[in-house]
Amino acid sequence: MAVKQEFNPIDAEFYLPAAAFFTAHRSLALTYDDITLATLYSEILPRDTQLDVQLAEGLNLNIPVISADMDTVTESRMAIAMALNGGLGLIHYNMPEKQQLSELSRVKNHVHGLIQDPIKVAPEQLIGEVLEMIEKRKFAFGTFPVVDADGRLVGLLSGHVVKPRYSKRKVAEALTPRNQVHAIKQQELGTNPVARADKFFTDHPGIHKLLVVDEEDRLRGLFTMSDVERITQERSAQFRPARDSRFRLLCGAAVSATRNAFGDLDRERILTHVQALAERGVDVVAVSTAHGYSKGVGETVKMLRDALPRLPLIAGNVTSAAGVEYLADCGANAIKVGQGPGSICTTRIVAGVGIPQLTALHVCSRAAEQKGVTIIADGGITKSGDIVKALTLAQAVICGGLFAGCPEAPGQMMEIGGKLYKQYRGMGSVAAMKAGSAARYGHLTDNTQKLAPEGVEALKEVSPSLDLVLTQLIGGIQSGMGYLGAANLAQLRQKARYIRVSPAGMREAAPHDVVEVKTGS
Ligand code: XMP
Repeated sequence: MAVKQEFNPIDAEFYLPAAAFFTAHRSLALTYDDITLATLYSEILPRDTQLDVQLAEGLNLNIPVISADMDTVTESRMAIAMALNGGLGLIHYNMPEKQQLSELSRVKNHVHGLIQDPIKVAPEQLIGEVLEMIEKRKFAFGTFPVVDADGRLVGLLSGHVVKPRYSKRKVAEALTPRNQVHAIKQQELGTNPVARADKFFTDHPGIHKLLVVDEEDRLRGLFTMSDVERITQERSAQFRPARDSRFRLLCGAAVSATRNAFGDLDRERILTHVQALAERGVDVVAVSTAHGYSKGVGETVKMLRDALPRLPLIAGNVTSAAGVEYLADCGANAIKVGQGPGSICTTRIVAGVGIPQLTALHVCSRAAEQKGVTIIADGGITKSGDIVKALTLAQAVICGGLFAGCPEAPGQMMEIGGKLYKQYRGMGSVAAMKAGSAARYGHLTDNTQKLAPEGVEALKEVSPSLDLVLTQLIGGIQSGMGYLGAANLAQLRQKARYIRVSPAGMREAAPHDVVEVKTGS
């Protein structure tokens, strides 16, 4: 039987580990397409690889992928879909603070077994009013518990009667009365409420809702069979949804180092808002700016760290070891790395600064290791192979453009020349800065004519659902790990060996000399 070789001196001469490789290329800044990874002996099947990662104490993801805090990428719908796939969404801050809080609540209240504050209706309301509420708030369901002014359960308004033909009738006339509604007392839920609800649904064929009441018959929650089934199923999935200790989906929110009219850091406003986010269960706050190695960002991180010692904090963006050290010393747990690699970025053209992403990641990863923090590769990722390369140096990646065409991203589709597109714009584009993100680029919002844009407004072709896009990306990551014999992300970082690619090598890597009839995606 052949004996496997852990080390081969010929390979070792050409395929170098990170420190040796990037030091050998220290005078040339490199990015994803400039290198390729060498294959290594493997006993690992791609499907057996583990992708879980801890970004900070209390912040564990099941896949190392985060959706960007951009106003054309992440609001609650995207954040829910990301967390259901095991990743994380960072809700952007180009919206009033109150709205960011409700976006967060939407994620935290999504499918967690017991819906603690279900939408209720009153007996004296008209069915027509209920229909209006469904339309206005875009509810995907039509059955509601009915409670009186004291919160006591009066009955259940079934979706079968919430129809325009009954719109003039009162809820009281159409509801299923209390004595025919299935409800369980809070105390009877025991230590495993989902299992209790699961048993109830098995014991009561045809019943899809179970209400929870207290001793005085006040409504305390609602289980739906589809939620319970989804939770039961996901326990056996390979990449489980990313959830907190209370079984709610994980969600992050971004803030900027906002300044007041005098140009000073608006400490009170930032702190009050982040405290409100924390009260609503935010799992991580990202202090997101274009230049993280700056006084305003450092002071914001320090202030948040002092006020909320246990809240995981992401900060950025930086591209230097000094930047990583500074933000780590201020109290950040994870540092975003990337200045100018993004698909909609023009920072390098406008400001003449920024570092191609792989070199930046290597430099930052060395400082991060010393400081005991993690780094996140932010921007410039266009394919799963880029993610594999990024994860040889960083603990996770942030993607904007890859997800902006998904139906879960905010914004309407538009048709141009028979093709469907969605808007995707840089947070440093004029339109986004006018909508509020100017502070991220160090500008005041009240003088939009003087803004120097560092991003473009663009379109992305509409892509399939996020589930499908992520399935492809994860398949690619697992495949890369299989080629390197890496069972988990720590092994991927440790095993990676790099070599430069020539322009001809890059051409060789893509389909060539064929007439393509079907793309890989
Ligand atoms: P991708 O390549 O995934 O990049 O589309 C998303 C990341 O780009 C950053 N970003 C910007 N950078 N000007 C910039 O220089 C901008 O207007 C801009 N908007 C977003 C950000 O880090 C994001 O995650």
